[in-house]
Amino acid sequence: MSTSKHRRLNAWVNQVAEMCAPDAVCWCDGTRDEFDRLMGQMVAGGMAVPLAKRSNSFLFRSTPSDVARVESRTYISTSDKDDAGPMNNWVDPGELKATMNALYQGCMRGRTMYVIPFSMGPIDSPIAKIGVEITDSPYVVCNMHIMTRVGAGVVAKLGVDGEFIPCLHSLGAPLAPGEKDAPWPCAPLEKKYISHFPEENLIWSYGSGYGGNALLGKKCLALRIASAMARQEGWMAEHMLILRLTNPAGRQFHIAAAFPSACGKTNLAMLTPTTAGWKCECIGDDIAWIKTGPDGRPHAINPEAGFFGVAPGTSSESNRAALETLRENTIFTNCALTDDGDIWWEGMGAAPSHAIDWQGRSWTPACSEPAAHPNARFTAPARQCPVICPDWEKPEGVPIDVFVFGGRRTGVMPLVHEAYSWDHGVFLGATASSETTAANIGAVGNLRRDPFAMTPFCGYNMADYFRHWFDMGERFGKYAPRIFYVNWFRRSPEGRWLWPGFGENSRVLKWICERSEGKAGAVETPIGLMPREGDLDLTGMSIAGKDVRELLRVDATAWKAELPDIEKHFRQFGERLPGRLWKQLEELRQRLG
Ligand code: OXD
Ligand code: MN
Repeated sequence: MSTSKHRRLNAWVNQVAEMCAPDAVCWCDGTRDEFDRLMGQMVAGGMAVPLAKRSNSFLFRSTPSDVARVESRTYISTSDKDDAGPMNNWVDPGELKATMNALYQGCMRGRTMYVIPFSMGPIDSPIAKIGVEITDSPYVVCNMHIMTRVGAGVVAKLGVDGEFIPCLHSLGAPLAPGEKDAPWPCAPLEKKYISHFPEENLIWSYGSGYGGNALLGKKCLALRIASAMARQEGWMAEHMLILRLTNPAGRQFHIAAAFPSACGKTNLAMLTPTTAGWKCECIGDDIAWIKTGPDGRPHAINPEAGFFGVAPGTSSESNRAALETLRENTIFTNCALTDDGDIWWEGMGAAPSHAIDWQGRSWTPACSEPAAHPNARFTAPARQCPVICPDWEKPEGVPIDVFVFGGRRTGVMPLVHEAYSWDHGVFLGATASSETTAANIGAVGNLRRDPFAMTPFCGYNMADYFRHWFDMGERFGKYAPRIFYVNWFRRSPEGRWLWPGFGENSRVLKWICERSEGKAGAVETPIGLMPREGDLDLTGMSIAGKDVRELLRVDATAWKAELPDIEKHFRQFGERLPGRLWKQLEELRQRLG
């Protein structure tokens, strides 16, 4: 029975139900009762393990073929291939829809089809957007409860004819009468499709139950579709954390920072500063929607309501606030299960003498494989974070002072540098590079250009996205945030980390904030403005002077060796690449001498 009076929505739901042939249709209300009922069913069916040590928390184990986003099966389907651009997979919309319509026929047999009305962003925010996800996965419903705002408030806002983004998801695993369900139903890789039709603001996903492939509000809506909408409507949808730093004098700075997946965004967003008297508060850890506010300044909201964070490596040293966030009401996926009913992962602290690994096998520290999958995740409500900013749900967002870009590079990239201008900043974003991580199915550790950390998430031609950044700079005018580039991952020639990272990153952020208010000093280098040794506050930190010098060293030879790769990266966009980026490359070449 529909709970909606929205004719277009009801018609779409009926049409999908007819095509997918579920046994039942359930409209979700986002209540605790609903969460408990679905979790109860999943516990009874053996898919979810309740955790004795954490209230209302559950462990799920996926199947080894479905452990991360699948970039190779992710499509931006536009009528003209060039509108998707060279960094996206493309199939003609007619062809892709025909293929997927065939897959969707009867794909929910033996299952319940859930209809989830959700809001990305606080429901009363002028920046928020509404989506409706249809899925046959109760695991997805419970995750969506945490990651988005689900329920009656959304239905009320939708009214009888409000705008919404339809998001269709199926596990692609129909059940024959009497057939026992798999512990983690999904389709094989060659049948998985994560498809976006930005010309119609439409999302169709098939065959995967994991993370960004299935929780369609996150990467599919809030980044790929939203980035395309943002370009048309004059705002920005970015793969950025948002944090507030307050200095000892009480001045607030808001930073939006883009890093590729699994490069420490959640840790940075919840950092415990080691700089005396500074305070950090988290507004978001993955996505920022940025619009010009009535005062002309860029304002950002976090469209999500929870954290879907990478678990391995999270510890009381690296991110105490995250660990506290996960104490209750949390879904864990692909973590290890300890004998006393808690979860564990590599990098959390002392290993248990025995556990059940993410594949359900007996595990001891002597085992050669990790107990948790490297892309094991937690799904936790943002409101539980002890350092959540009191303004994190402010409908108008927070004013952004600074943009930071970064990636995972063992060499070449110094600890921090600042762009000379907006155009130079766009060049830094457009040429950002990083080693690939386990957040995507594919090789790990390969260096790739990851412009603005948006390679897997830009819903249109990346060259047009660069142009949009230039346009936004003009729109922001005197309020355009300053732009910086950081690298926490530089190593010595022997392979030792040169920078301790985590809370110590506050020292770099302090310099960045003080640059933005015109206080801290800097020196001009061929690649940008950089702190001289005395400009970084290293008080109380034990780091060798030679390591600091190495972290701030610009190796002109290594930089010159990067230029052909940047050129190759730019050439793939042909005529569509803004000339202002070629000009920046030329200027860098000249500064390097
Ligand atoms: C994420 C990702 O899950 O970027 O946030 O993969
Ligand atoms: Mn992300």
